[in-house]
Amino acid sequence: MRNAQVVFETKKFNSLKTNEFVQYKRVGLTGLKVSRLTLGTNNFGGQVDRETSISIIKKALDLGVNTIDTANVYTGGKSEEIIGSAINGNRDEFVVCTKVGMPAGIVPNATGLSRKHIVWQIEQSLKRLNTKYVDIYYMHRFDEETPLEETLKTLDYLIKQGKVLYVACSNFTLEQLKRAQQVCENLSLEQIVAVQPPYNLLQRDAERELFPYCQEKKLGVFTYSPLMGGFLTGKYSENAPPPLGSRAATNPRYAERLKSANFVALNKLKAIAQEVGVPLSKLALSWILKNPVVTSVIVGASKPEQVEQNAEVVDYKLDDALYQRLSQL
Ligand SMILES: NC(=O)c1ccc[n+]([C@@H]2O[C@H](COP(=O)([O-])OP(=O)(O)OC[C@H]3O[C@@H](n4cnc5c(N)ncnc54)[C@H](OP(=O)(O)O)[C@@H]3O)[C@@H](O)[C@H]2O)c1
Repeated sequence: MRNAQVVFETKKFNSLKTNEFVQYKRVGLTGLKVSRLTLGTNNFGGQVDRETSISIIKKALDLGVNTIDTANVYTGGKSEEIIGSAINGNRDEFVVCTKVGMPAGIVPNATGLSRKHIVWQIEQSLKRLNTKYVDIYYMHRFDEETPLEETLKTLDYLIKQGKVLYVACSNFTLEQLKRAQQVCENLSLEQIVAVQPPYNLLQRDAERELFPYCQEKKLGVFTYSPLMGGFLTGKYSENAPPPLGSRAATNPRYAERLKSANFVALNKLKAIAQEVGVPLSKLALSWILKNPVVTSVIVGASKPEQVEQNAEVVDYKLDDALYQRLSQL
């Protein structure tokens, strides 16, 4: 393991180090290079307090993770705010990705992908992130109520204004993605450069249609929830309450994953992990990284040590036979 030293007391922390652990990949056909691991931050300012969140970001940067994923709605904007204060002074070294489109309030225009909501929310995100631009701006989910032309023209305008560098989408079906691409082409707008679906050993819908299409069209692919929110680390047991402070103990949406059917698969994964002597989280992450369509795996953390452990995965070579066995889970 690399002997990483993080300087906590200085405001401008250690510059990004390109090292043997974290490799970089271009996002689709763009020139933008992102680390193979992206730091996920949907628990920053909620389950994970501000101070710990900042030390996680510092650890990530020190290990060469240059890419951070957040959203305007994560912990009511606290996630973006914490990132903004942590990256202060190092902005250009980070690839900052945020999202718009989920409900951000109760008034009628506080959700979706209308021109009004996007223009309102980008200003809020830029302010909280303490930056002049967002590197990748995601449509968080498809909006059935807003014409795609309106959404995509607005995003194109944000690029022209220099507030956004690249546009991407999350949780779109293949058909929705194709429709959006067609609109961009018809109106000569900036194209979508990447997608962000959920993907892990037990949630593999993206393999069916989305991945082959992204490979063919050379789109960037950022996958989320690679450890199923921690379930695939083996920290949960079927007949015991979730460990204190864990994701499932603090977030009911994640607790829903503690189902019998998932434990059946988890037990098989545990048996393989024991047999080959490799931690579950390492198997689960390296299995995704081995897929050539994947640009970067968005993985969350609640402690800096988890980031350190996860960063080692990029250097681990999962052999083909083990890859096949895991794929059969
Ligand atoms: N686009 C979307 O709609 C969408 C949806 C969900 C997530 N995301 C993005 O994807 C990111 C990652 O997804 P996620 O947070 O749902 O799930 P995840 O990355 O699968 O799981 C993260 C959790 O796993 C545990 N963990 C991580 N590394 C570990 C290690 N080495 N050892 C033990 N436990 C470890 C921690 O759990 P404990 O907290 O219990 O320690 C951590 O909070 C999010 O933060 C967010 O940025 C996007």
